[in-house]
Amino acid sequence: MTHILITGGTGELGTALSAQAREAGHSFRIMSRKPAPASLPAHTEWAQADVLTGQGLAEAVRGVDVIIHAASDPRNPKLTKATEIDGTRQLVEAARAAGVPHLLYISIIGVDRVPYYYYTYKLAAEKVVEASGVPYSIMRIAQFHSFIDFVLGTFLRYPIGVLPTGWQSQPIATVEAAQAVIAAAAQPPGGRLPEVGGPEVLTLGEMARDWQAVRGQRRLILPIRLPLAFAEGFRKGYNTNPARKIGRQTWREWLEATYSTARIHDPRRDFRRA
Ligand SMILES: NC(=O)c1ccc[n+]([C@@H]2O[C@H](COP(=O)([O-])OP(=O)(O)OC[C@H]3O[C@@H](n4cnc5c(N)ncnc54)[C@H](OP(=O)(O)O)[C@@H]3O)[C@@H](O)[C@H]2O)c1
Repeated sequence: MTHILITGGTGELGTALSAQAREAGHSFRIMSRKPAPASLPAHTEWAQADVLTGQGLAEAVRGVDVIIHAASDPRNPKLTKATEIDGTRQLVEAARAAGVPHLLYISIIGVDRVPYYYYTYKLAAEKVVEASGVPYSIMRIAQFHSFIDFVLGTFLRYPIGVLPTGWQSQPIATVEAAQAVIAAAAQPPGGRLPEVGGPEVLTLGEMARDWQAVRGQRRLILPIRLPLAFAEGFRKGYNTNPARKIGRQTWREWLEATYSTARIHDPRRDFRRA
């Protein structure tokens, strides 16, 4: 049994990580900036801490065998860079001070090849981890199905939507990504680990077709081609790794499983309500 700290434990991946850790018989501590919810399940530890201010970090990392670092703030432009780079630095310093024997940083396939601003921050954070002196693993994962769902919902919220239909992705079910992460967390630090992607590489245009069909929605999609270096990276599929088809659930299967129940997919709802 491994004792795991999950930073970002209330997020999309973090919620799946705690479920998979429980399933695999590990003990774990969820880290969040929020106080523990009243409805915290039995045998679940909670640490209130912030990677930006450093508040609570020393207590959060104390006594764990491995830290899975999945805290990130990509939807808050003012804090994204600092959270990723400075926040990772504060966390590794706390880990080093506490003698934590393994830190597993969650990254994204293509952070070194697609010059998208968020990816450049994640690449810098990888370097912070590598230089930290803390024994580490770095796992680069492809986009989650739920993230593609969010992207399409954003681009296609009006009757006519513009979409970079040529961008590629290799989406994976968050649960399957979490299984790979938890398996790696129970192993010794491995440095740069093999990448983890979903079962198929698809274009955003192909994914939008399935998304509309399963949701019974009809939007007029106008394809756009952005003449930008990062867009070229997504078009060329630098954020995919067809040799690493680890996930099994396809995009279409995920859509059917998610939308057949006619509820909004939001694994964070339990913590939010608390
Ligand atoms: N989404 C994808 O498709 C995808 C694909 C591959 C890899 N990844 C990577 O996987 C990781 C997790 O992604 P996700 O989609 O699960 O993110 P998410 O749902 O946005 O969750 C991120 C969590 O980070 C926590 N957080 C934010 N700022 C913090 C701070 N200053 N201190 C402490 N915690 C903070 C938040 O928890 P509280 O609000 O409770 O504090 C939040 O729940 C990220 O590193 C991301 O780059 C994501």
